[in-house]
Amino acid sequence: MSRKINIAIDGHSSCGKGTLAKNLAKELEYMFIDSGAMYRAVTLYLMQNDISLEEVQANPGVLLDIEISFRLDPMRGFYNTHLNGENVEREIRGMAVSSQVSQVSAVKEIREFLVDKQKRMGENKGVVMDGRDIGTVVFPDAELKIFMTAEPMVRAKRRYDELTEKGIPANLEEIYNNIRYRDEYDSSRDVSPLIQAPDAIVLNNTEMSREEQARIAVTWAKGVIMAG
Ligand code: DC
Repeated sequence: MSRKINIAIDGHSSCGKGTLAKNLAKELEYMFIDSGAMYRAVTLYLMQNDISLEEVQANPGVLLDIEISFRLDPMRGFYNTHLNGENVEREIRGMAVSSQVSQVSAVKEIREFLVDKQKRMGENKGVVMDGRDIGTVVFPDAELKIFMTAEPMVRAKRRYDELTEKGIPANLEEIYNNIRYRDEYDSSRDVSPLIQAPDAIVLNNTEMSREEQARIAVTWAKGVIMAG
């Protein structure tokens, strides 16, 4: 049997990291982990329980009540994010969570809490994880690191289509502004800003189909697996 590796996929919001990561995981029979969904689930938990970021900073122990898991929806063939046992996939993708998640993910105590969980998920290898700091902080030793980017308007249209397909109400201009804001915020925050790992390969997919991207990434992954 061939050796297993970890694959880190980082990049800007809504540039198809999740789709690529899912396709890679399926092809290689690896586990896919959406780290952004974990920041979104924490955001939802804090909103639901009316806990401020100042309270989390003063008492990070409140985070220990949060349990996040990914469970397969056998009917639809994809994983739903569960927060303390409840399927929150739909809620975490809506605008209410999207407009708060950047501030939440900039809090050091929250990052430490989630990064620790994420590192443990990759201990046995065979993981494809997408996010902002996977190649730099979570899996600095990942055997393959991909940094994805695409034009902001192309990304906004993709996110719009994704939401409307799921029946979630969406507004293109609002999404575009949110993407620009998050690009700026994620790249300039003090804690774990979005930066390209020096050993990451850049994939600009502005003009690429999902299939093309998947084909390229699978070739890269198989090359690394065989070279080891
Ligand atoms: O990938 P996404 O849009 O679902 O991520 C939601 C937010 O979480 C986004 O504003 C950036 C943040 N995030 C992060 O800071 N670190 C990660 N590893 C993943 C996401």
